[in-house]
Amino acid sequence: MLNILVVGSINMDIINRVHEFPEAGETVKGLGAEYLCGGKGSNQAIAASLAGGNVTMIGSVGQDSFANQLLATVQGYGVNTSLVMSKEGFSGLAFINVNDKGENTIILSEGANGKMNPDDIRSSLSILEQTDLLLLQNEIPWETNEMVIEEARRKGVFIILNPAPATSISDELLQKIDLLILNETEIETITGISAGSAEQAEEALRCLIHKGSREVILTLGEKGTSYMNTSLVKIDVPAFQVNAVDTTAAGDTFIGAWATLLRSPLSTEEKLRFASAAAAIAVTRKGAANSIPTRGEIEQFLRERHGS
Ligand code: RIB
Repeated sequence: MLNILVVGSINMDIINRVHEFPEAGETVKGLGAEYLCGGKGSNQAIAASLAGGNVTMIGSVGQDSFANQLLATVQGYGVNTSLVMSKEGFSGLAFINVNDKGENTIILSEGANGKMNPDDIRSSLSILEQTDLLLLQNEIPWETNEMVIEEARRKGVFIILNPAPATSISDELLQKIDLLILNETEIETITGISAGSAEQAEEALRCLIHKGSREVILTLGEKGTSYMNTSLVKIDVPAFQVNAVDTTAAGDTFIGAWATLLRSPLSTEEKLRFASAAAAIAVTRKGAANSIPTRGEIEQFLRERHGS
């Protein structure tokens, strides 16, 4: 089994459903609220675990009433949380609004995630000796990500970075990442190129490769997914058509599922379809962690859609 390490965030998602998002200064009545486990780090860890990876997470929860619930949930999906720390103060919170189209807006209060400093986790990184693949996002301090990337490179671990929420990244750091997985907003932040059309997406992907990225996947929601590596050939896979009720964690689900295919003999196109199927299932369900499918569900979906 592939050993996957996720160093990242764990959040309590406070989800409000609304018909339409309020304008600035406007108050609208919500249709009901839920408290569910989320956070890009733990969502990706859970997605990788459910898709068949052996996943360990390094993260941080607060000393509040959410902490135990969050840990129990992540553990319940088969993720090893023995390296998750407890930090004074509150756990990460994500205030999420979901409208009738399944779109979301998210405001993050980083809480314990923001307190995960390089020195806090240095000793836990001995686990890199037994790690095949490292998954990182941008919901913990950036200097912690940089330190982990350096250590992982020294140990020859394959590194996937999902720079979400969007952040600019130096060319030097891009060259240290094996695979970058990002969306339209994130690629524009790094390259300055909007990926609105297929041509612009290709230009933005080429720009990342010229900056030194080795492999890039651009996730474009209902417009599908594009992949490019140093050969500069773009591979496009359309999104599966589904009735979206909540797009929260769709990207995380894609990434976790993709990560489990590191050693798979499947073609790049087949891998993209597998990860896209996982994301497609997630958007038909409400919430973050609880919307993520198992490997069996992904394979069943693919059989139904393509007979494969
Ligand atoms: O990617 C979705 C996640 O972003 C949510 O679960 C929320 O916690 C925010 O981190």
